[in-house]
Amino acid sequence: MQNYAEEIRHFMESHVSGILAALIAGVVVLAFRRWMAGRACRSKARLDGKTVLITGANTGIGKETALDLACRGARVILACRDMTKAHSAAEEIRQCSGNGNVVVKKLDLASLQSVRDLAKDIQENEERLDILINNAGIMRCPKWQTEDGFEMQFGVNHLGHFLLTNCLLDLLKKSSPSRVVIVSSLAHERGRIHFEDINLDKDYNHSESYRQSKLANVLFCRELATRLQGTGVTVYSLHPGVIRTELVRHLFPSFALWKRIIVMPVMMMIKTPKEGAQTTIYCAVEESLANDSGLYYSNCAVKEPAAQARDDAAAKKLWDLSASMVGLA
Ligand SMILES: NC(=O)c1ccc[n+]([C@@H]2O[C@H](COP(=O)([O-])OP(=O)(O)OC[C@H]3O[C@@H](n4cnc5c(N)ncnc54)[C@H](OP(=O)(O)O)[C@@H]3O)[C@@H](O)[C@H]2O)c1
Ligand SMILES: *[C@@H]1O[C@H](CO)[C@@H](O)[C@H](O)[C@H]1NC(C)=O
Ligand SMILES: *[C@@H]1O[C@H](CO)[C@@H](O)[C@H](O)[C@H]1NC(C)=O
Repeated sequence: MQNYAEEIRHFMESHVSGILAALIAGVVVLAFRRWMAGRACRSKARLDGKTVLITGANTGIGKETALDLACRGARVILACRDMTKAHSAAEEIRQCSGNGNVVVKKLDLASLQSVRDLAKDIQENEERLDILINNAGIMRCPKWQTEDGFEMQFGVNHLGHFLLTNCLLDLLKKSSPSRVVIVSSLAHERGRIHFEDINLDKDYNHSESYRQSKLANVLFCRELATRLQGTGVTVYSLHPGVIRTELVRHLFPSFALWKRIIVMPVMMMIKTPKEGAQTTIYCAVEESLANDSGLYYSNCAVKEPAAQARDDAAAKKLWDLSASMVGLA
């Protein structure tokens, strides 16, 4: 026994600098991890008697958002394209939250017909809608088209949500004070709206298309807030952080092995879906934001978006273009 202790002491003495370095590295990694995790939504607001609809809630941050809001007592509608995944997510959320009022509805944002069908179902069958969360998204997919012939990322991330929101406005107004929360991204900062070639037909670039769609999210938030002034419906857009989700599904498989090996430890450091859901939850429930509208949030705080996302003329022009693309009067 004594021999053993002595051996340890000897080891420590001869490896002092190594042990110190390992300790410091550990502290740095933990501090970095803590910083990456970001702030949590601290609001304790309850949502009993309220109804929330979340798009793309079968996985990623949408699912974590749905779970949190279910825990607050809301009736939660998961609007998803894959019914099998959606039903298993709903079951998990019911189990974890103890809230049985979690339902699934079919929504494929890459189909205007599907968007209209869901909106009609909600308007006819739901008594109220207090919070609409436009969360679903697709990133850096190949040059794909939606059912209606729109470029996929612009079609799903922006146009589908644009139509859905507009179709649900009457119910949102009727339920006011109510909120629309739009999940955008930091990627909007390097985006521009290609008004001359909105579907990027001439020169498709999957990154450029994603940035354009996320910039469209922030501009839509701004214009919608202006149009909804005085109605009691407030609008929020946000960057959720960098999160370990399935969003990289179209990107990761093309990575070379060395890139994957480098990316792996980074993936371990970035936000978990639960951490990534915090700013969405904050915009959905935080009481102090009740009278704010049209702003952009990051890390559970308001943030100024990029200059091109504050361009009111572009926001108006995008609204008109979107309305004509989806066939809204
Ligand atoms: N992860 C990040 O680091 C990050 C950073 C900035 C912004 N965001 C934004 O956060 C949001 C959520 O992304 P996530 O990271 O949670 O990604 P995710 O795990 O890939 O989840 C995306 C969700 O969107 C759904 N979806 C995709 N296409 C759809 C369609 N045509 N119709 C209906 N639903 C569709 C997916 O359904 P399926 O499972 O059926 O495909 C899934 O439920 C997105 O708007 C994204 O742009 C994420
Ligand atoms: C897409 O555009 C980015 C710059 O925005 C560029 O770095 C990248 O190489 C382009 N990708 C393709 C496939 O052209
Ligand atoms: C929002 O405005 C209403 C009406 O002016 C006011 O009663 C309420 O206190 C305000 N709420 C917040 C959080 O500022």
